[in-house]
Amino acid sequence: MMAGWRHAFKQLLFCAALLFFSCASAQDKNAAIASAHPLATAAGHEVLARGGNAFDAAVAVAAALAVVEPWASGLGGGGFLLLHRARDGHQVFVDARETAPGRARPELYLDRDGKPVRGATTQGGTAAGIPGTPAGLAHVAGRYGTLPLADSLAPAIRLARDGFTVDERYTRIAGLRERYLRDAGEAGRIFLDGNRVPQAGWVLRQPELAATLGRLGKEGRNGFYAGPVARALVESVNKAGGVWQQEDLANYRVVEREPLRFQYRGATITAAPLPSAGGIALMQCLFMLEPLGRIDPRAPAQAHFLAEALRRAFHDRARYLGDRDFVDVPVAGLTSRAYAARLAASIRSDAATRSDTMGPEVPSSAGTSTTHLSVIDAAGNRVGATLTINLLFGSGVVGRGTGVLLNNEMDDFTLEAEVPNSFRLRGGVANAVAPGKRPLSSMTPTFVEDGRGVLVLGAPGGSRIVSQVLLGVLDYLHAPGVDLAVIAEAPRYHHQWWPDRVEIEPEGFSGEWRAALEAKGHRLQVVKRKWGNMQLVFKSRQTGAAQAASDPRGSELGWN
Ligand code: DON
Repeated sequence: MMAGWRHAFKQLLFCAALLFFSCASAQDKNAAIASAHPLATAAGHEVLARGGNAFDAAVAVAAALAVVEPWASGLGGGGFLLLHRARDGHQVFVDARETAPGRARPELYLDRDGKPVRGATTQGGTAAGIPGTPAGLAHVAGRYGTLPLADSLAPAIRLARDGFTVDERYTRIAGLRERYLRDAGEAGRIFLDGNRVPQAGWVLRQPELAATLGRLGKEGRNGFYAGPVARALVESVNKAGGVWQQEDLANYRVVEREPLRFQYRGATITAAPLPSAGGIALMQCLFMLEPLGRIDPRAPAQAHFLAEALRRAFHDRARYLGDRDFVDVPVAGLTSRAYAARLAASIRSDAATRSDTMGPEVPSSAGTSTTHLSVIDAAGNRVGATLTINLLFGSGVVGRGTGVLLNNEMDDFTLEAEVPNSFRLRGGVANAVAPGKRPLSSMTPTFVEDGRGVLVLGAPGGSRIVSQVLLGVLDYLHAPGVDLAVIAEAPRYHHQWWPDRVEIEPEGFSGEWRAALEAKGHRLQVVKRKWGNMQLVFKSRQTGAAQAASDPRGSELGWN
């Protein structure tokens, strides 16, 4: 009883803090944070209020999301952080993507007949790549932050240690994966209530995760990649069928990469380079669309061109893209305006191309999670970060005693040209599994700068991230004013070359809209659920005022 009261009191204090920090954000109208959870956003504001910059705040938000959105991202996953430093305009793409363990081979995922082993890339030890998020957070805090890492992790540690009250969204998502979690043992013990889906109002405490975050704060990356945490991770993964070695963790490195930067109709766009496939696709699509002038991506005639551009970009992704540290990818050619013009010339205004006529075949060697956060501070530093453990609750493997739920990012590699992954993405040899290699990703944190100011955006949603960001960029550039809520809310459609169809959300597309696309030969598929959970911030060039918006889908559906 006492414990109950004590907890209620702590929650009250926390709510008061929340209120304070949302007020603080209203007061500091030159900073803004958008994330998938109010507690994570509050963690970021807390760190800003303590004198941290946008980089410290992004670390705080990411770490808090690891606690309060455990199905989506976390220390057991990886991701990308796109940074802009106001002081000198330095921009960098921090690649904290998971790597394949040293003993990973395609054969680990294929049976004797060369057929994929069911579940091998999505469940259990073979599914998990070596996590990058802890190293990414330590790197960003150490090189770009102003506060010690431990300070930026403090709100997340508190949330993990003292617990937080789970909401309907948590219970719905845990409900989708109840059996999965129960069968996983340790994960079920942590994320279920007595092996059952908890009711809203249940308090999720993660003392072991709090301790791991504490070690990371105190010892930096070694607190995770060496010592007891690393040993526990390797042991648990291998017990669940994996092939990890200590050196896989010890050798993990964050890579700083040059972002893609280009001009589109007067705006400067900064986008994700490989191993994200998103920035290349964004650039290709925008260059294909450029000759059309100002685009209203919602108008059916222009939606046709967008779908056709996406079809071509995803076809190229399947043919050419993979981790550039392992394979040659002709990035300059693929992203040139001349090449985009050639691709665009094959788009007919009156008819859809059929994906199966596009050849040549992709060369072959033989529901959702993820989270995005956008932060901008008063000085103009900014971060767009998309982080993931891939599918809901990842591989289901938790390192015993660490509270760290591991990803199933190995599913983002391509096993065979004919074998799509969980996002129905096909690929080729360029994205085949190899030791130490990073699987191709769709995560696309993006900056857009024009005369009005700067926009930071991104989203979860697997392959549909790319079309979400493309639509978001075009919506922003199309409207004369800046209304982030409208951009976040706008109905979405998507094409990814294969399967050959335009996927549309269940609401927001009129009969005429659909008929206009069908008349050109597009096959439309109305998807059961809306998708995405876009997070945007914008800072005005004229006034410095900042604003944030979160996708209403995040709270509407409990599903992104
Ligand atoms: O990196 C990728 O592209 C995927 N692992 C992202 C997964 C994702 O967005 C799932 N969420 N909706």
